[in-house]
Amino acid sequence: MTASASPATATKNRIGATIIEARDVGKVFSVNQNSLTVFDGLSYSVRAGSFLSIVGPSGCGKSTLLKLIAGLETPTSGEIFFEGRKVAGPARGMIYVFQQYSKSIFPWRTVIENIDFGLQSHRKMPRKHARDLCMEYIRLVGLDGYENYFPYQLSGGMQQRVVIARALICEPKVLLMDEPFSAVDALTRAILQELILKIWDAIPVTILFVTHDVEEAVFLSSHIFSLTKAPARIHQDLDVDLAWPRDPIRTRAEPVFTQTRQKLFASIFLQEKGGLAGKPAAGAEP
Ligand SMILES: Nc1ncnc2c1ncn2[C@@H]1O[C@H](COP(=O)(O)OP(=O)(O)O)[C@@H](O)[C@H]1O
Ligand SMILES: [Mg+2]
Repeated sequence: MTASASPATATKNRIGATIIEARDVGKVFSVNQNSLTVFDGLSYSVRAGSFLSIVGPSGCGKSTLLKLIAGLETPTSGEIFFEGRKVAGPARGMIYVFQQYSKSIFPWRTVIENIDFGLQSHRKMPRKHARDLCMEYIRLVGLDGYENYFPYQLSGGMQQRVVIARALICEPKVLLMDEPFSAVDALTRAILQELILKIWDAIPVTILFVTHDVEEAVFLSSHIFSLTKAPARIHQDLDVDLAWPRDPIRTRAEPVFTQTRQKLFASIFLQEKGGLAGKPAAGAEP
């Protein structure tokens, strides 16, 4: 797979078999003799090729869910499988893109050197070929012309593009993104949303995308998990029934968009106000 792969037009048909499966996962953090149960028997599956957003109240365990999949945290009980193999530490084929991109970019390296770092740590190849490949991913994220700039010479949105290109050059099967656009202004965010959909369409990658922004989740996703407060369970597991390709203006005007956003917002808002406990409640949606 390369960045120049022809765009898949039939986006709906790209969703395949289960790629990630969590079975009865528990996670308890202990700090100064206090313990916090973030998950208590959480099970779910993610299908290959999907764009799955994870939303839920602040502190419910969204980042922890991604870290457990990435092998950056270990479940206290239960198991997580990636392509049928139990996750035990960081797995090749999955890349975690952190919330604070400015902390994961190397300030002393240029754009192309930052992206090349992703390549060096994953694949050995002749330097000339490596440079050509870096340029391919630089074009994919719309940074051509900026390859010799240093991060301090770029806007926040451009730095985030560097981080995305560095992740993609490793050819991950799964991209785990933790609130990747939360630090940029609204317009840049809309542009980055279009970019990530373009990439998802062009490359056979599964994206797990944590966001606190319900609207962003509905716009981007093929599926959404809405979590309850900790101990978190999946309160809503939705297929987003909006046409592809998504359009920043037309899609947002569709009745299904508004209805889905309202439904998710209401469930999260009610929880913030204490309306829903983390444990299954009578009458809760599956
Ligand atoms: N390494 C850790 N040690 C102790 N507590 C943690 C750790 N990581 C997360 N937590 C706690 O777990 C809960 C869920 O955190 P997190 O997954 O970051 O929530 P979210 O991303 O949904 O805002 C929070 O109460 C947080 O304080
Ligand atoms: Mg978080």
